[in-house]
Amino acid sequence: MLQNLKKTTLFITISVLILACSHQEISVMPDLIPKNHSYSNYDSINLKHLYLNLKVDFNKKILKGKVVYTLENINNLSYLILDTKNLKIEKVLLEDSANTAWSEGEENDILGKALVVQINSNTQKVAIYYQTTDSSEALMWLTPEQTLGKKHPFLFTQSQAILARSWIPCMDVPSVRITYSADIECDNQFLVLMSAENPFEKSKNGNYHFEMKQPIPSYLMALAVGNIEFKKLSENAGVFAEPEMIEKATAEFFDLPKMIMGAEELYGKYAWERYDVLVLPPSFPFGGMENPRLTFATPTIIAGDKSLVSLIAHELAHSWSGNLVTNSTWDDFWLNEGFTVYFEERIMEKLYGKNYADMLAVINKGELDISLKDLMENASGDTKLKLNLKGRNPDDGLTDIAYIKGSLFLKLIEKTYGRTKWDAFLNQYFAHFRMKSVNTEQFVNYLNTNLVNNNPPTNLNINEWIYEIGLPKNCPIIKSVNFLKVEKMTNATNENKNIKSIDTTGFTTHHWLHLLRNLNSDSVSNIMTELDNTFGLSKSQNAEIQCDWYVLCIKNNYQAAFPYIENYLINVGRRKFLKPLYENLSQTEEGLIFAKKTFEKAKKGYHSVSINTIEKILSQ
Ligand code: BES
Ligand code: ZN
Repeated sequence: MLQNLKKTTLFITISVLILACSHQEISVMPDLIPKNHSYSNYDSINLKHLYLNLKVDFNKKILKGKVVYTLENINNLSYLILDTKNLKIEKVLLEDSANTAWSEGEENDILGKALVVQINSNTQKVAIYYQTTDSSEALMWLTPEQTLGKKHPFLFTQSQAILARSWIPCMDVPSVRITYSADIECDNQFLVLMSAENPFEKSKNGNYHFEMKQPIPSYLMALAVGNIEFKKLSENAGVFAEPEMIEKATAEFFDLPKMIMGAEELYGKYAWERYDVLVLPPSFPFGGMENPRLTFATPTIIAGDKSLVSLIAHELAHSWSGNLVTNSTWDDFWLNEGFTVYFEERIMEKLYGKNYADMLAVINKGELDISLKDLMENASGDTKLKLNLKGRNPDDGLTDIAYIKGSLFLKLIEKTYGRTKWDAFLNQYFAHFRMKSVNTEQFVNYLNTNLVNNNPPTNLNINEWIYEIGLPKNCPIIKSVNFLKVEKMTNATNENKNIKSIDTTGFTTHHWLHLLRNLNSDSVSNIMTELDNTFGLSKSQNAEIQCDWYVLCIKNNYQAAFPYIENYLINVGRRKFLKPLYENLSQTEEGLIFAKKTFEKAKKGYHSVSINTIEKILSQ
């Protein structure tokens, strides 16, 4: 009897569960063919507004709630198709009340799954109820130990390139722009920030409302939750950070208001009202991310001497190149990053002079040369400015080609026509494509019509720069007078194999970087201890210098540095630094063992973006 009752209860419970989860599926699924890394039907349906309502659950490490789209079904389609990845969809309602049929497409490793929603000609609102999962790659949930304060957990997102779909069902393609608003709810010990109009202090009840009134692409959707404080730098700029970091960060970014004014003088009024920087815990996988109104930045740029703030100039520059004028597809990524590196150097020149900007340019060119060598051997097609990332992860396009080859091409145009004409052209370009996306062909067309064709013929070799591999012969020569002394020293050190020629008086971070990069690792193998003891390199607190020095240490198996390297790998999550260290470690059997052991310890502090890269390196 009791047995039977138990069985019946179980049966009822299961039935209720099935009923609750089941929904009407789409009867005839449309063809799901991805285009520009998106399954969505962005060409035929016009999304007008996105409203997000999410609850942040630090215990379960999920976001849960709904996204509501206001749309125009201009072509009278039967389906709305959105991108999703590793989300749990709960239900879909039209006009926020009527259940409708929906289905998910097949899972693709890179692109995730299409979410197909049945709509009709009158549909104006689609509400999708969902929650994120452990595998939502955009989200990084940090434990209190992984923050500076050690008391509160922290959450941040990273949507670029195609990870927005792992926390919001969306048309995840950079050519689609949308305004958004949001209500985010969490425990009242946290401040919540988004790429939108932000609060400056915590709310009493843990509820926050956000508005982004300018249309932005999905890859710029961003959210951060943590024990965060604000400090103002000027009327329209400031810094957000954990309380333990706020003073240091504001001091470091003292020049930011001047950067904004400098940038405006170059390429027109700043379009996003405020510009604030959020300094994240060290797990942030990038140097910076240009989320509109709120750049996300790694703490590894807080060197204490303002020497790494060009990164802020870079993210600020994206407020024009990228956020205002956006690459249409990830194949056109150089339009975002090449322009931004060019613009960044112009801002730095305006603030700190030509010699300073030249140092940055030489450092960049050195990095490009190394990447080019590697890419020409292993993936020469990826050395073209216009990429072909079909079927691949757009992350593969994140190389020095887009950034530095791209900026050198623009420098060539500048050199060819002179700054006056080139700057006038750029102003016109930013105004013309404002709040729009642009692909490489549209840019070239615009360049030809508005600059090239109005001037005497030149040999820019545009097609070679964009559609051919390698670096064209007419690439501008990049030199820095500040570095001449360093180059003399490194040549002598490489030849004489002693450190006598090195005189570091007046050295700044960039002199060190140039020195370390030009030391020949074989030549210094016997003077590693001397170098370290004299200049205290292993103990450096400058993440850039540390990275370059540790690479040299690994190449020379300089054991005394390994405890420092281990410590660095555990405490820094920025992929740009992790990558060369793990790569060089993996060159020897012994190194690989150390790398694998350290990775196991460090992994929980890395974002999935970094984990994916390192796992690839360690398994090769
Ligand atoms: N938008 C990029 C970061 C990015 C690109 C993230 C593609 C994901 C996919 C950002 O502006 C950037 O370029 N950051 C650089 C810093 C810069 C100074 C070169 C970085 O993170 O190192
Ligand atoms: Zn960038």
